[in-house]
Amino acid sequence: MIDAVRWVRTPENQHEVHVLDQRLLPLRTEFMVCRNADDMAVAIRDMVVRGAPAIGISAAFGVALGSQSFDSASGISYRKHMEEVSRLLGSTRPTAVNLFWAIERMRFLWKDQAGTDSSSMTESLFREAQIIKDEDIRMNRKMGEHGQALLPQSATVLTHCNAGALATGGFGTALGVIRAAVNAGKSIRVFADETRPYLQGARLTAYELVEDGIPTTLITDGMGASLMAKKKIDAVIVGADRVTANGDVANKIGTYALAVLARAHGIPFYVAAPFSTIDFSMASGSSIPIEERSSREITHIGPDVRIAPEGVSVYNPAFDVTPGEFITAIITEKGVFRPEELRQMSPQSI
Ligand code: MRU
Repeated sequence: MIDAVRWVRTPENQHEVHVLDQRLLPLRTEFMVCRNADDMAVAIRDMVVRGAPAIGISAAFGVALGSQSFDSASGISYRKHMEEVSRLLGSTRPTAVNLFWAIERMRFLWKDQAGTDSSSMTESLFREAQIIKDEDIRMNRKMGEHGQALLPQSATVLTHCNAGALATGGFGTALGVIRAAVNAGKSIRVFADETRPYLQGARLTAYELVEDGIPTTLITDGMGASLMAKKKIDAVIVGADRVTANGDVANKIGTYALAVLARAHGIPFYVAAPFSTIDFSMASGSSIPIEERSSREITHIGPDVRIAPEGVSVYNPAFDVTPGEFITAIITEKGVFRPEELRQMSPQSI
């Protein structure tokens, strides 16, 4: 299984986190070595690692790396140092709630550190980050079990962006459902949107599925409608960066269009996401901060090749919000919920 974020202990008993550089896939497999919280903040901000659960796991390891760098001779208290580490990691990407969820979970451990020396706290923080990662893999497998039951014995699924092993601790959310269906003996074909402008579908989803031998056809983002009209799609399954209390879903730009298309063609539209992606503190999707990214992602292909004229204006939001009314169900590790069922819930009620 692809392992995008790895905790490594060096022979000198130092901790490192090796992050698979997703900017280079599928052409090269290289790891960025993170030795402190600054390295991890760069890895998240520059999209060496991406995908909501993987961002959360990376941020958790970033907190642990930050603790490792604490210097008691600096005159700054451990608590103040860790506040600064958390602020830095929290400033990297705004949309995926998993980032903030993971930083808060780590804070729970270090905030009452009185009486514990910082090096044993560092050990506990690395163990906690690894637990978050291991839990994520288990949740993805559970989500897979719940989600695959929704698919017929033979199905063609359309997916958008990358919600696979690369975007999580492993196995994936949307791709986890597809993998679980294949493992259950179902005959599954996938159409993968290329996902302009960052091409997570072409570079990452196609890579994962081809590696797994799951029949996959790559399409550009505008092709879904014609496939649906020709009755070639049985279900759409995507991941999520944040689900709000009313069942609205922020996910990769282009997701909303797919949901509307699916509704127009009577095709089920599923979102697969762990409970940690549900932000019960936010009433609706209109409050979700949407990251806007560099115009260069649209005006250029790769680092150097310009494909648009100099001087053109560019709008590049990385995510959109799909209203809950367009979502058939949200597949979680705790079961499958309609958005209106989510509205009756709180984190404690599950
Ligand atoms: O900008 P990215 O690549 O981080 O966006 C990723 C997505 O939108 C995914 O669909 C989402 O994070 C779910 S990943 C399981």
